[in-house]
Amino acid sequence: MSIVFDEQKRLFKLDTSDTSYVIGVYDEDYLLGLYYGAKIPDMHFDSFIKRAVAFSPANPVFGHNGFSPDTSPMEYSGPGAGDFRIAAIAVRNADGNNVTDLRYRAHRIYKGKQPIPGLPTTYAVSDDEAETLEIDVLDPVTGAMATLVYTVFCDQPVMTRSVRVTNTSDKTMYIERVFSLSLGLPTMDYDLLTFYGRHVKERTLERRPLAHGLQGVQSMRGVTSHEQNSATVLMRSGATEDFGEVYGFNLVYSGNFASLAECDTNGATRYLLGINPESFEWTLEPGDTFYAPEAVSVFTDKGLGEMSRIFHRFYNNNLIRGKYKTAKRPLLINSWEAAYFDFDSEKLIDFAKAAKDLGIELLVMDDGWFGKRNDDHSSLGDWYVNEDKLVGGLGRLVKSVNDAGVKFGIWYEPEMISPDSDLFRAHPDWHVHVPSRVPMQSRWQYVLDVSREDVRDNIWQQMYKVLSENNIEYLKWDFNRSITDAGSALLPPERQKEFHHRFILGTYDLMNRLVTTFPNILFEGCSGGGGRFDPAILAFSPQIWTSDNTDPIERLTIQFGTSICYPASTMGAHVSACSRTGYETKGNVAMWGTFGYELDPRKLTEEEKTIVRRQVADYHKYYDLIRSGELYRIVSPFENPYYAAWEIVSADKSEMLFTFVCAHGIDGSQRMIRFKGLDPDREYTCEQDGETYSGAFLMHAGLNLTGKANSDGESYTLYFK
Ligand code: GLA
Repeated sequence: MSIVFDEQKRLFKLDTSDTSYVIGVYDEDYLLGLYYGAKIPDMHFDSFIKRAVAFSPANPVFGHNGFSPDTSPMEYSGPGAGDFRIAAIAVRNADGNNVTDLRYRAHRIYKGKQPIPGLPTTYAVSDDEAETLEIDVLDPVTGAMATLVYTVFCDQPVMTRSVRVTNTSDKTMYIERVFSLSLGLPTMDYDLLTFYGRHVKERTLERRPLAHGLQGVQSMRGVTSHEQNSATVLMRSGATEDFGEVYGFNLVYSGNFASLAECDTNGATRYLLGINPESFEWTLEPGDTFYAPEAVSVFTDKGLGEMSRIFHRFYNNNLIRGKYKTAKRPLLINSWEAAYFDFDSEKLIDFAKAAKDLGIELLVMDDGWFGKRNDDHSSLGDWYVNEDKLVGGLGRLVKSVNDAGVKFGIWYEPEMISPDSDLFRAHPDWHVHVPSRVPMQSRWQYVLDVSREDVRDNIWQQMYKVLSENNIEYLKWDFNRSITDAGSALLPPERQKEFHHRFILGTYDLMNRLVTTFPNILFEGCSGGGGRFDPAILAFSPQIWTSDNTDPIERLTIQFGTSICYPASTMGAHVSACSRTGYETKGNVAMWGTFGYELDPRKLTEEEKTIVRRQVADYHKYYDLIRSGELYRIVSPFENPYYAAWEIVSADKSEMLFTFVCAHGIDGSQRMIRFKGLDPDREYTCEQDGETYSGAFLMHAGLNLTGKANSDGESYTLYFK
C-alpha cells in the first residue's frame, strides 16, 4: 500500500518508490507536516510536534502543553490563528477579516489520480500506477474548506499536490491566496536553486543558501516568464550534481506564480509554491469551489542529476500526451531566421524543395503570413491569409510544399491583438485593459482578453477555418509580451483581481480545443523563445521553443539550465545560420533537443550541405536515444567557462552519446572525463576510435580527452554501444 492511515496515531504515510511523506492529525484536529524525504518504514514523530515556544500564542484549550501553531510544523496554514509564517491560504470572510484556521475533518484514499477541472495536470497511465489521498480541512467559524490532494506514484519518487477550496457557508467569501504546495522542513541547511533570465538568455542557474526570513522568486508578468521559472530546487547544503539530498518542485501553471521559502527563528523552513497572491483574489459564492493548479514534487538523495532524470522520466511518461508522446516527430525547418517577414509562396516552395533535398521533413511558415503583416506593427488577430504574399492562397502553397515531399507547419500568436488590425477595429474593447488608462504596448501589440468566451470563440473559429481547410501538420503557438493593465471589460469591479487566473484558464481552453480537434498536429509552445516553458504548456504541446538565441555557445547555459527540470524531448533546438561556430557544433548542440533548422537552405555551401545530410542521418540514428534516454551532465558551463560536456545513456544502458563543446579555447588544459550512468559490467565500443572499454573503466578511470576540440566553438561527439 502506498498510502496508509494509522488510526491510532492519526498519522498518514504516503510512500513513493523511494520517498515517504508523513502528515499527522494533532489534538484539536490541527494538521501537521511531519516528514518528507527518503523512504522510512516506521513513524516516531512525537518529538517533532512541539518546538521551542517563546512568546508564542496557544489555543486556550491546550493550556500550557507546549503546542503552538507559531512553531509547530503546520501542514497548510492560514493567517491570524497563531502561525506567523508566510501563509499557504488566506480566505477573507463576510466579517471582513482573513483569519483562516483549518482543522482536519475527513479524508479519502483512492487508486489513481483525478484531473482538475479547467487546468492541465500530470496523469497516471493506469490506476495502479498512483494512489491519491484527499484531506478535507475546515475552518468551522467561516465554513471555508480546503481539500488537500496528494498523489503518490508507486514506481517513481514523485508526488503531485493540489488544493481546492469550497465555500460551505451561506455567505460570500474571498480567497486572497491559495498555494498549491506547502512543505515544512525541520532545518534550513538548504540552498535554493532558481532559474533567472531574460529574452535570449533563459534559465540561468542561481544557487544561494537559505537565510532567516523570506526569499524566493515570482512572476508578475501574467505568464511564466523568461525572468524566472516556476521550477525550483532545494539542495541540502553541500549537495552536488551527483551526491546529496535534493527536493525539486514545479507548478503545472503558466501564469503569475510565487515560489517562496521562509526560514523561522527555530531554523525550520516553510516552502510554498502556487499562484502569486500579489495579483490574485477570487470571490467564492456559497457552494462554489476554486481549483488551484497542480504542483509536482520530487525527492532524491542522489544529487541534482538524478533529480533531473526523475523529472525527465515523469514528464515524458506522465505529463506529455497525444500522438507525439510516442510517434516520431518530423525533422523540421523554420522560416523565421531564414526570411523573417520577407517571404512569399515562391520563396517558401523553394525552401521546401531545398529542404527536401537535404532530408528535412517539414517546413514551418513562421510569423508574417496573415492580415497585412509585413513587420511586427500590425495584423495580430487577423488570422486569414495575406494573398499578396501567398498568391493563390494557403491551399496552393501547402499543396506545392506537400508535392515537394515536405509537410507543412504554421505559426500563430492567438492571445494577441495589434491595434492596427481588423479585429481591433471591429472590437476595440477586446484587448486587455482597464478603464481610463491608455494600455501599455509591447512589440506594438496588445494582449487579447481570452478570459472572455466570445473572444476565444472568435479566435478559435478563425484558427479552425485555416487548420481544417489545409493539410497543416505542425503549429507553433507564440506569446510575445507580458500582460499589463490587467483587467477584463466583462468582469465586475470586485472580480477584477480574478483576471490573471481567468486569462490562463482561457488560454488552456483554447489549447484544449486545438489538441482535441486536431490531434494529429504536432504542437510546439513558444513565447519570445522560452518565456512560457512550463509543465502546463507541456500538457498540451510535447515541445517548446527553448530560446530565440540559436548561437550554440550561448545555448549551452540555456540548455543546461532548462535540462535541470525539463527533458530533451521538450527542448526546441535548431541549427541556424548564426555566425559563431561551424555547422558541426551547431548540430551537436541542437541534437540535445528536438533538432531542426532555422536557416535559408538555398544558401548552404556544398560542404555545409554534406554536414547537414550527416546531421539528418544522426537525427534518425539517435532519435530514440535522445528522447527516451537518461541525461548525465558531465561538465557544466555554469561552472566551467571553457567547455561543457554531457551524455545521454539509453534506459537499458546499451548505448551512450557523449558531446563535448569547447566554448573558449584553452590549449593544453587537461581534460580527464569520467563518464556516468553506464553498466560497469558491460563492454562499450566507441564508434569513433573502435576501442572497447568496460563500463567500469569508463566511469571510474575515464578517458583523457585532452587536445580534442581546443579552439573556440569546436566540438565533437563520441558514440558508445
Ligand atoms: C518569437 C519567437 C520566434 C519567432 C518570432 C516571430 O520571438 O520566439 O521564434 O516566431 O516570435 O515574430
